[in-house]
Amino acid sequence: MRLRRRAGTMDALLRQPDIYIPEPREYKGRWHEFFGNSNPLHVELGMGKGRFISNMSGHYPDCNFIGIDMKEELLMQASDKARSIWAEKAQMEPPNLALALFNIEYVLDLFGAGEVSRIYLNFSDPWPKRRHARRRLTHPEFLAKYTHILRSDGEIHLKTDGEHFFEFSLNSFIEAGFDLRNVSLSLHREGAHPEHVMTEYEMKFHERGQNIYRCEAVPRN
Ligand SMILES: C[S@@+](CC[C@H](N)C(=O)[O-])C[C@H]1O[C@@H](n2cnc3c(N)ncnc32)[C@H](O)[C@@H]1O
Repeated sequence: MRLRRRAGTMDALLRQPDIYIPEPREYKGRWHEFFGNSNPLHVELGMGKGRFISNMSGHYPDCNFIGIDMKEELLMQASDKARSIWAEKAQMEPPNLALALFNIEYVLDLFGAGEVSRIYLNFSDPWPKRRHARRRLTHPEFLAKYTHILRSDGEIHLKTDGEHFFEFSLNSFIEAGFDLRNVSLSLHREGAHPEHVMTEYEMKFHERGQNIYRCEAVPRN
């Protein structure tokens, strides 16, 4: 995703301690303290502009959400979006959403063992070249990290437009000890759930008539 860098973005984020977490490692294993409750923790890895995670936080107030990306401009956009969603409910501070500027490679520094109930991987970069396969967020090396932070009854929900990336991911899930559920080869043609929240990328691809693949992966116990 190409973005124009804007001066002052980090300062603007730092003025929002209710939603932007400058030192997210400090909450490893104790995110419940940040949110002030023990509701299930749902994390989107690579949230982009945050349409999905901010809408989810509005739809599901009984879950806590963390959006992670490595571009501060995207965090700013996600924060604005979340505030406008919660303002419609007459609440100025989204109570169940945190945003972290963080490289997913180091996700083990962010969450303790079994701390996360659900991981969302939405339209992750497909890294189509074979020599870049280890950068794919569903490479078995990443999945081993997710297995560590997920609860034993946790889930990974994946959506993508990339057929090859989807096939690679299904194989990786199986190899890394996950079972697959609700595999869809054409999400929108099969009639998405009415409460289904679309991501920015999903809206773009859907409008172009492109196919969307989806699956859920659960650790094999
Ligand atoms: C293709 S975009 C998808 C955005 C969003 N999930 C959607 O569906 O609209 C992928 C996002 O993942 C982020 N990303 C990729 N690798 C990352 C990493 N290692 N750590 C943090 N964010 C990453 C990128 O910055 C980008 O915003």
